[in-house]
Amino acid sequence: MINTIPEVKRKFDVEVVRNDFPILKRQINGKQLVYLDNAATTQKPQTVIDALTHYYTYDNANIHRGLYFLSEFATEQYENARLKVKEFINALSASEIIFVKGATEAINLVATSLCRNNFFNEGDEIIVSNMEHHANIVPWQLMSDRKNVKLKVIPINDNGELNIDAFISLISEKTKIVSVVHISNALGTVNPIKKIIEIAHSYNIPVLIDGAQAIPHVKVDVQELDADFYVFSGHKVFGPTGIGVLYGKTEYLEMMPPYQGGGDMIRTVTFEKTTFDDIPKKFEAGTPNIAGGIGLGASIDYLNQFDRDELKKYEDNLLKYATEQLSAVDGLRIIGTAKEKSSVISFIIEGIHPYDIGTIIDTDGIAIRTGHHCAQPVMRRFNVPATARASLCFYNTKEEIDKLVVGLNKVKKMFA
Ligand SMILES: Cc1ncc(COP(=O)(O)O)c(C=O)c1O
Repeated sequence: MINTIPEVKRKFDVEVVRNDFPILKRQINGKQLVYLDNAATTQKPQTVIDALTHYYTYDNANIHRGLYFLSEFATEQYENARLKVKEFINALSASEIIFVKGATEAINLVATSLCRNNFFNEGDEIIVSNMEHHANIVPWQLMSDRKNVKLKVIPINDNGELNIDAFISLISEKTKIVSVVHISNALGTVNPIKKIIEIAHSYNIPVLIDGAQAIPHVKVDVQELDADFYVFSGHKVFGPTGIGVLYGKTEYLEMMPPYQGGGDMIRTVTFEKTTFDDIPKKFEAGTPNIAGGIGLGASIDYLNQFDRDELKKYEDNLLKYATEQLSAVDGLRIIGTAKEKSSVISFIIEGIHPYDIGTIIDTDGIAIRTGHHCAQPVMRRFNVPATARASLCFYNTKEEIDKLVVGLNKVKKMFA
């Protein structure tokens, strides 16, 4: 039985919600932790930690194959988690939910499997955008080395928004798939993915959406979007590391060959020939991350307590506040100023390397990310080697933004 989504939602109160996340009480360097690296990974509520501990303490057994109580119970919980994901993103069927390690593995699975299927012919093209994470560039390149398939890149303007006219002009009879990010981890841009999907579908081209940064911040309905593939990672949505989701429409998953071979994905095996199980099992070779799946289910339960629109409103207000406060820091330039943005502020401060910013404010317990954010083409587009990035979540507060600003001014004084 899957947990029913509560009809009466829990009222959002940031101070109460912060108590759900034990790590937020931690002191770092003698200071209260200010965690502003949520785009890298989100913190875990106690309920997710408890689900993992409970599973290993009381329910641990391998799934799908055992005919004893514990194995059947572990199987039920794991498959229950698949149902929770199905409902969370409104997939048509639970068999369209493939558990993988994370967004990276999901894209590798699609690229590799399509390549094996002769989906691509010599000279075909894949459209990605200039703001992709390396996870949505490198798997296609690995595959294109084998098939001589070319990547075409949708350009972005100085605000970090996709040029949709340029996208349309990139489409040709050689375009086989469009693979774009929903929300950019480096810029915070929210892309018009519904429009992109509509345009691609008008040419009968399937679309993969990298939802790694979107899923913790916005409601996703894969049927409403009509996405052909949608991928995300559990650890960015308050769940454990090592678990993620590939959603694919049945028509694609059924025509795609397996990604990896081994136990649990077969129907019959002889030395001459193997036949494969149906989806999703066809894509889940070997013992999966059982605890991870159950933990991801618990993170979905956690989010389902709230009205997601209320969380989004809070996060959008916090982003607005942070943008205003950071913009007031002398010499600070925000990289990524799209009209539609979510939760991420990338910035540089004139004359100070982002690594110095990150290292100095860490002494005050403030955790931000510095570097190229696995998005080197974006850095090149804006002519910067790296940025500092504060990424927000609903458990962050205005007081934490104020502490970040104090920290940045301290850095500036040190370099004056
Ligand atoms: C937009 C985007 N796509 C893909 C990934 C890869 O996620 P993972 O490392 O969890 O596979 C990330 C991680 O930062 C990301 O931000």
